[in-house]
Amino acid sequence: MDDTDLFLLNFKGFHFERTLIDVDVLENLDDFEIRDDDVFIITYPKSGTIWTQQILSLIYYEGHRNKTENVETLDRAPFLEYNIRKVDFSMMPSPRILTSHIPYYLAPRGLKNKKAKIVYTYRNPKDILISYYHFSNLLVRLQASDNLEQFMKQFLDGKVVGSLWFDHIRGWYEHKHDFNILFMKYEDMKKDLRSSVVKLCSFLDKELSEEDLDTVVRQATFQNMKYDPQANYDTILKDEVGTRNDGCFLRKGTVGDWKRHLTVEQNERFDRIFQRKMKDFPLEFTWDINEQ
Ligand code: A3P
Repeated sequence: MDDTDLFLLNFKGFHFERTLIDVDVLENLDDFEIRDDDVFIITYPKSGTIWTQQILSLIYYEGHRNKTENVETLDRAPFLEYNIRKVDFSMMPSPRILTSHIPYYLAPRGLKNKKAKIVYTYRNPKDILISYYHFSNLLVRLQASDNLEQFMKQFLDGKVVGSLWFDHIRGWYEHKHDFNILFMKYEDMKKDLRSSVVKLCSFLDKELSEEDLDTVVRQATFQNMKYDPQANYDTILKDEVGTRNDGCFLRKGTVGDWKRHLTVEQNERFDRIFQRKMKDFPLEFTWDINEQ
């Protein structure tokens, strides 16, 4: 057993965070009852999960948009497998928004029958790597690394929560015909949030007025979310999960931050692995904001 095993739980070949997971939940995932109007947000960690949770809850809940209800985003779109607040999902009113990092092959049977909708948000993996490195050093329940090189090796070996990024995105994309799924690119959301919200509304069959759309966009910006305690996980992380330093969940929220962190050699190594693993993969990635 190495240090990594203290933090990770391997279930059917996929790594979960050990202390927050309930193996019973995993054993019963296949039978998790899916409602037709459920919406699942599925991501690899650090790809824009909380952002998508915020946007979807703003789209669905008027009380969230106009701030008449004081509910945290995590409670509006709770995690399926990391059920920190022990929500009884069967008691949640419809439509439910649920969040998960699971790989395609662990998805509940009902999802595979295209019963509910899935939004899969993805991001360029170099920015995920940097975001994840900082996040792992922030959370006491994740393995900290002394330096980026150490974390990069773990990330590229899949020895992190969520396992290998390459497998996660490939798995979901290559099985997309089994699901009712929309792929959203983090960098597109960053470039034109309004268009992304419109695209989401259209997939979710939600009609919002122009004014409501503006409200969603305004409240889903990085600046707004960073300073809105309901929309970021700062209290949850500090009070319920545990942090090692005073870093924030919403760290930078930019495209291309990897350029400030990776050495030339690390970047070339990453590229070589990326090209090998993602050969012929149809989704395009945006590495730099100037590309857009
Ligand atoms: P950084 O660490 O690069 O800042 P997840 O929710 O999947 O863990 O992803 C977290 C990443 O999404 C963090 O990236 C966070 O800052 C970024 N993020 C969250 N909300 C955002 C927003 N409104 N706009 C842009 N990025 C956002």
